[in-house]
Parts: sequence; structure tokens; C-alpha cells
Amino acid sequence: MSKYANLFSAFQLGSLELPNRAVLSPMTRTSAEQSGLANERMVRYYTRFAKGGFGLIITEGIYPDAANSRSYDNQPGIANDAQAESWRPVVQAVQREGGKIIAQLMHAGALVQHDGFTPIAPSAVKPVGTMLEDHGGSGDFAVPKAMTQEEIRKAIDGFAQAAHRAKQVGFDGVEVHAANGYLLDQFITDYTNHRTDDYGGSTERRIRIVVEVLEAIRAVVGPDFVVGVRISQGKVNDFHHKWANGAADAKIIFEKLSAASPSYIHTTEYKAFAPAFAEGEPTLAELAKRYSRLPVIANGKLGEPERAEHLLETGDADLVAIGTSALVNPDWVNKVREGEVLNHFDHRFLHPIATLKEEEVVI
Ligand SMILES: Cc1cc2nc3c(=O)[nH]c(=O)nc-3n(C[C@H](O)[C@H](O)[C@H](O)COP(=O)(O)O)c2cc1C
Repeated sequence: MSKYANLFSAFQLGSLELPNRAVLSPMTRTSAEQSGLANERMVRYYTRFAKGGFGLIITEGIYPDAANSRSYDNQPGIANDAQAESWRPVVQAVQREGGKIIAQLMHAGALVQHDGFTPIAPSAVKPVGTMLEDHGGSGDFAVPKAMTQEEIRKAIDGFAQAAHRAKQVGFDGVEVHAANGYLLDQFITDYTNHRTDDYGGSTERRIRIVVEVLEAIRAVVGPDFVVGVRISQGKVNDFHHKWANGAADAKIIFEKLSAASPSYIHTTEYKAFAPAFAEGEPTLAELAKRYSRLPVIANGKLGEPERAEHLLETGDADLVAIGTSALVNPDWVNKVREGEVLNHFDHRFLHPIATLKEEEVVI
């Protein structure tokens, strides 16, 4: 028996029976065809994690609609039937190995790093920071166009249609990416949302679009399909952002999300085990659990199994998502179970850009 009793216990996530508590964290690898089709290399890449013991895999962020949602060159999409079908071999390969796979639906909003369209966002606020070099960008982001209510309605519908396609091609669920600075997080964040309509102003109004996306998805996929939501404070272009009203904001955000009945909340922080706000106070995962009463996936520097086990033991989280450590240990789960030494992740692994390496597509 493994010394990590919590990590290796089964868990029922909505309709999904999971053999252990380790989840592959979503990671963009910009290795799809430029047309947004998933390809054979991606089949092999994802298969490795299922073979390596991950009971649940969350895909990289997939763009849901053809209008404005794509962030990166070579990012995969699920904006039309052909793109959706291209995922079927990935899904089947993972499921053949006994794994479950959830599609992460990610709308860029202002964080666009390819030529093709004017980015849209809650308000015409230029993103802070610079484009992500890992994903082939450099320099400043463009100033986005403020979305009309019609564009908001279309973006929500885009998420719902994408979720429907994901279900059609056999995905075990979808995760709405409302974290890390992309469109939905731009609505939640005070300094990128200057709207004066129902989608801006108070925290209640800023979380509204996420609730509407979850409701729209639920209406098309039915009650049993797993629909999760990912939430963070930090962003890819602003690591240290904190919600202005601390735990009071957390209460509003997690209660509102909970009312839309997602299957789980996935929180991501730089360190999942560190207090979300002041020293001695709860983690973001614990706040999510307290105010939502839903299953919680925690992410952030949990590649050391002792840390993951401890977080599960405290009950702050039900599942742990492993990111960078899984890149260099696709068999993280099997290795931890057997007590083997883990490879150490070094950021140089992703240089010069975060596309798939040859050794990552060998099974
Ligand atoms: C190359 C790379 C790509 C990522 N892409 C995504 C993404 O598409 N969606 C997402 O929610 N998070 C993304 N992340 C964040 C990871 O899911 C995770 O939150 C982060 O790596 C921290 O977890 P860790 O400490 O276990 O690595 C990405 C991270 C990396 C390193």
C-alpha cells in the first residue's frame, strides 16, 4: 500500500468514478494544426498521462468559437464540427487506457497573440504585462474592443455550443476557464472591467457572465455531464493579483458559482497550500469548499506528493491538479505509487517555446 492514502483513494466526481485524486492540470502546448485541428502527436501526448496513472486529464485550453476566442497560433479549437471530430481520437486513446478526459474551454478575450482579429474584452483596457514568449508572442498586447451586450450573448452561446460538441465526440466533461486572465477572468477582475451595465461594477455583477456560461452549458448538456469551472486570482500577465475585498469577494464568487450547479470548482494559485489572503487565513481551495460545498480541485506547486497528500488530508480539496511536474513525469501517479524518484521540472523545458517535444510524443 502507498504511504499516500488520500492521494490513492477513489473519488466520485459527478458521474465520473475516479481511481485516485491526481488530475492532469490544463496546459497549452500550441501543437495543433494552424486550422485548430487536434492531431496525431496530441493523441500520443495525452495517451502518456493516461498510461502514467492519471485518472482524470484536463486538456489544454481549447477555443470555443471562431469569432474572437482564439489566443494563440496552433492552439486547438472546438469551434466547428471538424475541430470537434479531430478530438475524438484523443478522447478514445485516453479512455482506452482507462482515463477520463475533460475539455477545457478557453476564450482569449484581450489576451490574443496572433494576427487575425481585434480582441474583444469587457472594456477597452490594454492588458498589463507583455505577450507570452512561451507561446510565441512578444511585446505589448493590443487594446481590445469593449464587448456589446450582443457580443456577450454570442460568447456565452459559443461556450454552450462548444460544450455540446465536446459531449458529442465523447469527452467526459468540460471545464470553463474563468481563471488566469482570459476573457471570463477579465470580467471578474476590477481593473479590466469598467462596465456600467449588469456585467460590471460590484463583484456580484462581475461574476455574472461566468454564472450565465455555466447555466447555458448545463441547458445543452443535461444534468449528468460533468461541467467544472476554473478560478484564480493571479493571471498569466499579472501573477500577483489579489481580489480587492479578500475573503468577502471569495464568498460572493463561490456562492454565485455554486448556485449555477457546476460539478466542481478548480482553484489555481501559485502555491495551493498558501493562504489566499493574509497569513494564517484559509487557502483559496478551502474558501471554495466552504462557500460552494462542491468538489474542489486545487492546483499550484503540488508536484511534491507530500504537499498534495497533506492538502487532501486537510479536506480543503478533493482532488489535486498537477501541472509542470507532470510534464517531466507523465507517469507521476505510477511513480508516486511505487515510491520512485520524480524528475525535477526546469522552466528551460519549455524554451524557446512550449510546443511538444519529440520525447513527449513517444508512447
Ligand atoms: C506550458 C503551460 C501551459 C499552460 N496552459 C494552461 C491552459 O491552457 N489552461 C489553464 O487553465 N492553465 C494553463 N497552465 C497553468 C497550469 O495548468 C498550472 O496551473 C500551472 O502550471 C501551475 O501548476 P504547477 O505548479 O503544478 O505547475 C499552463 C501552464 C504551463 C506550464
